[in-house]
Amino acid sequence: MPKPCLFLFFFLLFNPPPPTSAAAESLLRFRSSLTNATALSNWNSSVPLCADARRYWAGLICKNGQLYGLRLEHMGLGGTVDVAPLAELPTLRTLSLMNNGLQGPMPDVKQIGALRALYLSDNNFSGWISGEEFEGMGNLKKLYLGRNRFSGEIPASLVKLKGLVDLGLEGNLFAGRIPDFEERDWKYLNFSGNRLVGPIPSGFKNSNFTSFFGNNGLCGEPLAPCKSSTKNWSILIGVFSAAAAALILFILLLCCFLRPPKLFFSPKILFRRPEKTHQYSSTDSEDNSKTNGPTGSALGFLRTDQPRFDLQELLRAQAIVLGSGSFASCYKAVLSNGLAVVVKRFRQMNAAGKDEFYSHMRRLGRLSHPNLLPVVAFYYGKDDKLLVSKFVPNGSLATHLHNTGLNWRRRIKIIKGVARGLSYLHKELPNSSVPHGHLKSSNVLLDQDFTPILSDYALFPLLQESHAYHHMSAFKSPDFAAYHDRTSKSTDVWSLGILILEILTGKSPANYLHQGNGANADLAAWVDTVVREEWTAEVFDNDLVGRGRGKEEDGRWDCGEMLKLLQIGMCCCERDIGKRWGLKQAVEKIELNLNEDEDDDEYYSSYGSFYSNSSNFKATVPEDEFSFLS
Ligand SMILES: *[C@@H]1O[C@H](CO)[C@@H](O)[C@H](O)[C@H]1NC(C)=O
Ligand SMILES: *[C@@H]1O[C@H](CO)[C@@H](O)[C@H](O)[C@H]1NC(C)=O
Ligand SMILES: *[C@@H]1O[C@H](CO)[C@@H](O)[C@H](O)[C@H]1NC(C)=O
Ligand SMILES: *[C@@H]1O[C@H](CO)[C@@H](O)[C@H](O)[C@H]1NC(C)=O
Ligand SMILES: *[C@@H]1O[C@H](CO)[C@@H](O)[C@H](O)[C@H]1NC(C)=O
Repeated sequence: MPKPCLFLFFFLLFNPPPPTSAAAESLLRFRSSLTNATALSNWNSSVPLCADARRYWAGLICKNGQLYGLRLEHMGLGGTVDVAPLAELPTLRTLSLMNNGLQGPMPDVKQIGALRALYLSDNNFSGWISGEEFEGMGNLKKLYLGRNRFSGEIPASLVKLKGLVDLGLEGNLFAGRIPDFEERDWKYLNFSGNRLVGPIPSGFKNSNFTSFFGNNGLCGEPLAPCKSSTKNWSILIGVFSAAAAALILFILLLCCFLRPPKLFFSPKILFRRPEKTHQYSSTDSEDNSKTNGPTGSALGFLRTDQPRFDLQELLRAQAIVLGSGSFASCYKAVLSNGLAVVVKRFRQMNAAGKDEFYSHMRRLGRLSHPNLLPVVAFYYGKDDKLLVSKFVPNGSLATHLHNTGLNWRRRIKIIKGVARGLSYLHKELPNSSVPHGHLKSSNVLLDQDFTPILSDYALFPLLQESHAYHHMSAFKSPDFAAYHDRTSKSTDVWSLGILILEILTGKSPANYLHQGNGANADLAAWVDTVVREEWTAEVFDNDLVGRGRGKEEDGRWDCGEMLKLLQIGMCCCERDIGKRWGLKQAVEKIELNLNEDEDDDEYYSSYGSFYSNSSNFKATVPEDEFSFLS
């Protein structure tokens, strides 16, 4: 063998040829699908890819002089990813685009069939992922899609990837059931913070339970056991009774058509008229065929401590419309036995299937707390869902606060009760992402002695997503705007904070909320500005501190307590979730710092020195009271 030839042989052996410029062209084409790719501006097609990757090809990972991976993390990249050019790079094995601002649907990654690891977490990808998206990606070991806004079902093709051992889907909007993965030793597994439902497949029963948190509808090991284990025969019974019920309904409907009854409700909710009522008490045994709801036309009763009535009676009752908002329509009906009930009719409540709806109702039926309005009965219709509760006679916190006025003791009593009710909800619904979700002054009802009673709680799992987003107060929080459209348990704390500030300032949060205006457009921001910049009592309700209207009896306030409450409210309204108080801490502070004393007169006389008017407010406030603001 001649020498030059040998030399060439060795050269080839130890210095494999640099990938052709075709690969460089592919990468440049990939880059051009991104926006704000300044971090990749050193990509230069006249320099071989792996010669000096750090200097000329930011983000390239090379192995043995060959392109192995792309690691484009934290680069501020935007736009919609086109991975087709990457399919032309035969040696590419790992792709990471984590922590950027990428948008649009899931990139069609099965084109890069040889990938071993794919990291797309912490972007703004959205939409459904096709069930076949991972078809044929047999080498894939790691898949991270966490904290995007993917929705729809978890793609079924993932189940076929036997080598997959890292799967991070947390913090998305995935819905439906978890597909049945084969048992294996997962290195990383996370489904938390989605909208998944149904039993957890048995292959996961030894997994860490934190992998499943924050999905309202998941059950089974490692979470709490599933409730209704439907047996085949009960399905059969269900089918038969449903058929029978349909027949009865048809006949009834005919009668109804021929001789319309006296109706005070909108006839739209009377598309079926049942004869029976059913008991859905918390003590129902698992296989009780009644709990499977054989007919869809009966009122389900959730409590044994309330009198029964049937839907027909409800529909015939004298009813007045209390409100008909876009969130729900609300009627008051007085039954023949004199019982006054409130019926809420929801149109956009189809997020959960019937079984799930029923089991959520049973969950609500088990709740019992002096500061929660119990759901007495419910009705599941195809389009309409009705929730029936007792009528609370004394109006809502909103009406009292903004119309009739409330004295300081009552305001404290209300805040304490709200905090207790909320903390009970959080304790009882630990798997719910937002246990209340709709805390606001018009949903805090007051009974005769001004005990607050929370209503409209725990409905988020049932409501259509877009409906919930538009109407529930949880989604008016900065969390929803700032954190990839997510909410969390601390969103309820935010709502509590806003409620506290509303109670202190007498200002309606709605007037400060300019949706779409981004951050700092809410009551909390206003309070923050006033307190920081002016340091005055202007922030407090005029009625409360006796300015303006000269209401003597409402002017009894306690400056120390008000400042403490202001501090609590502001700590609950901390924008940064990490710094925001947890509910436990907020409730502790409320219990500790506020004195709920029923006997107004006696109480006030011992606090005479705190009575004040606005002119000497500043003088009575020691400056270090504000130290929490620094
Ligand atoms: C690419 O690299 C070559 C050689 O180092 C250099 O002359 C050229 O200016 C570079 N082009 C860009 C666009 O940076
Ligand atoms: C663009 O990228 C830079 C870093 O390369 C980043 O600092 C900046 O925030 C990004 N801009 C946008 C709008 O994402
Ligand atoms: C994410 O995308 C949605 C639209 O799909 C947009 O409204 C939102 O502002 C984006 N969020 C971020 C953080 O880029
Ligand atoms: C579950 O996962 C969390 C978070 O990764 C970890 O802190 C905890 O130790 C794990 N628990 C068990 C029992 O493995
Ligand atoms: C899953 O993700 C959630 C939210 O990021 C986290 O709290 C939890 O610890 C994670 N669990 C595991 C097992 O990593």
